[in-house]
Amino acid sequence: MNLFDRIQKTTEFLRSNTTLSPRVGIILGSGLGGLVDVVKTETAIPYDKVPNFPKSTVEGHAGKLILGKLGEVPVVMMAGRFHYYEGYSMEELTFPVRVMKALGCECLIVSNAAGGMHPDYRVGDIVLIRDQINLQPEQPLRGPNDERLGPRFPDMSEPFNLQLLALATEIAREQGLDVKTGVYAGVQGPCFETRAEYRWLRVIGADLVGMSTVPEVIVAVHGGMKVFGASIVTDIGIRDELNKITHEEVLAAANAAAPRLAGLVAELVRRMP
Ligand code: HPA
Repeated sequence: MNLFDRIQKTTEFLRSNTTLSPRVGIILGSGLGGLVDVVKTETAIPYDKVPNFPKSTVEGHAGKLILGKLGEVPVVMMAGRFHYYEGYSMEELTFPVRVMKALGCECLIVSNAAGGMHPDYRVGDIVLIRDQINLQPEQPLRGPNDERLGPRFPDMSEPFNLQLLALATEIAREQGLDVKTGVYAGVQGPCFETRAEYRWLRVIGADLVGMSTVPEVIVAVHGGMKVFGASIVTDIGIRDELNKITHEEVLAAANAAAPRLAGLVAELVRRMP
C-alpha cells in the first residue's frame, strides 16, 4: 500500500474510534507528559493497536495516541514519539504527523528536551523554537513526492509559525514565565555531543540541540500545517567544565520544567487563532 493509502486507512480507523475532529496535533517529548493530566481524554489507543504505526521502544516514552479536549479545543496527542536513532525510517517516524493532518489538524505543537549552547541558557529554561537546522542524515521528503500530501519543494522560510510564537510569548509574559527563543539543531544521536561538537553547533547558528523534532516539523510544513515548538534545556553543552551527561539527568530536568511548559501550551491551544 502506498503512503497516501496507509494514511487514509489509519485515519479511517481513528475516526471510527472517536467522535472528535481534532484541530491541533501535539507531540509530547521526553518527560513532558504533563499535558496528559490536563487533557480531557475521550479515547486513548496504544500505538501497537493503531494500524501502520511504529511501536515506541525508548524508556520514558509511554506510547499511546490520545484524542481529547484541551479546554474546548479537540486535540490529538502523541504520548511518546519515534526517533531516528531508534532505527525507524524517516517515513515511519513522521507517519503520525501525516495522520494528524489527514484528521484535520491545522496546527502541530512539538516539545522536546534539548542541550543548550546559547550562553544565556540555564538548565530548566523553556525556549520557544524560532528556526531549525537539519543535521540528521536524511530528509523525510526524499523520494517520489505525492502532490496530494504537499509540494515537491516546500518553502521553509518560516517553519515555526511567527503568529503562534508571538502568542506564546504573550501568554508566557501573562503567566510570569521567563521564556527565550532559539534555533534548534536536530542531530541523529544517540550519543550526546562532544565538547567540540557543541562548540561547532554554536558556530553554525544553533542555540539548542536534540535528537528529534526536525523531521516532524518538515513533514508538517510539507502538509501546510502551522507549527509551534518548545524545548526544555536539560543540559548545557558549551562550558569548559562540561560534565558527563546522562539520560536520567535529562529526564529529571525535563520533568522539573514540564508543568510550566504544559501550562503554556494548554493556554496556547485554548487561544489558538
Ligand atoms: N544533545 C542531544 N540531544 C539532547 C541533549 C543534548 O545535549 N539534551 C537532550 N537531548
